[in-house]
Amino acid sequence: MSIAYLNGDYLPVEQAKVSVLDRGFIFGDGVYEVIPAYGGHLFRLEQHLQRLSNSLEGIHLDNPLALSQWQQIIEEVVKRNDDNNQDQSIYLQVTRGAAKRDHVFPDEISQTIFVMSSPMQAVSEEKLTKGICAISHEDIRWRYCHIKSIALLPNTLMRQIAREAGADEAILNRDGNITEGAASNVFIVKDGKIITPAKDECLLPGITRDLVLEIAAEAKLNYAEADISPEQLQNADEIWLTSSTKEILPVTQLDGKAVGNGKPGPCWKDMLARYQEHKKLLRSGNAH
Ligand code: PDD
Repeated sequence: MSIAYLNGDYLPVEQAKVSVLDRGFIFGDGVYEVIPAYGGHLFRLEQHLQRLSNSLEGIHLDNPLALSQWQQIIEEVVKRNDDNNQDQSIYLQVTRGAAKRDHVFPDEISQTIFVMSSPMQAVSEEKLTKGICAISHEDIRWRYCHIKSIALLPNTLMRQIAREAGADEAILNRDGNITEGAASNVFIVKDGKIITPAKDECLLPGITRDLVLEIAAEAKLNYAEADISPEQLQNADEIWLTSSTKEILPVTQLDGKAVGNGKPGPCWKDMLARYQEHKKLLRSGNAH
């Protein structure tokens, strides 16, 4: 049984309970992170905790813990859920806590802090060899998408619409620009150039996205952070989606049409190999 952390206690996740008055439950008033742990080594912990701080600041909520306390709790959850070095996906959530229902923030705040672990599911061989299908969708979310808010109804809705269309992800466009996926960042490749939208309030600053760009810079690949129009998306040679849980996935069908030649492309293969190399270093404790 998975062991979680809730407000100071470590306990089986099924026994972890919060108040129905928790503002996370009532208003979706909270933020979260998802952090992979490969062979017990946390992936880019510092960057995830920095993004958590930014998200908390974005919703005017004090960070309830110092970075060292976060690290200690997260490492303890990883340790308690270690099952033969199986990779883990760590989910953590901070809400504004329980209070009488009122839109205005309560004066006295005792944040709810929750951390849990799930086994990290490896991306299937089929997805890696055939790629995945995506649909285009209008970005129906709010304007602060850089905040990793737990209020994910638009994301879940668009993901479900994708599923019902036989696809795995919805790629979103707002005001004539591609922003990201419903739960991932987006890259395209055109004539050998890797392009992803620049970071702003319209998209989540993905930790995986940043690593892909770091790898591209180190390897002196041709890349840019630039706007992507829906037409550029449709005409791309390759489309990739990145996230902590998906890593880097090739999209080979968009809105029922083949992307490029309909097969995972050479730039994706090259980037995935470099990414796996980085993970190997991480597992042996030689990267972060
Ligand atoms: N989601 N954009 C959105 C909207 C996301 O929800 C995610 C990740 C990303 C990628 O960020 P990162 O590379 O830091 O995982 C981009 C997580 C995995 C989730 O909600 O489960």
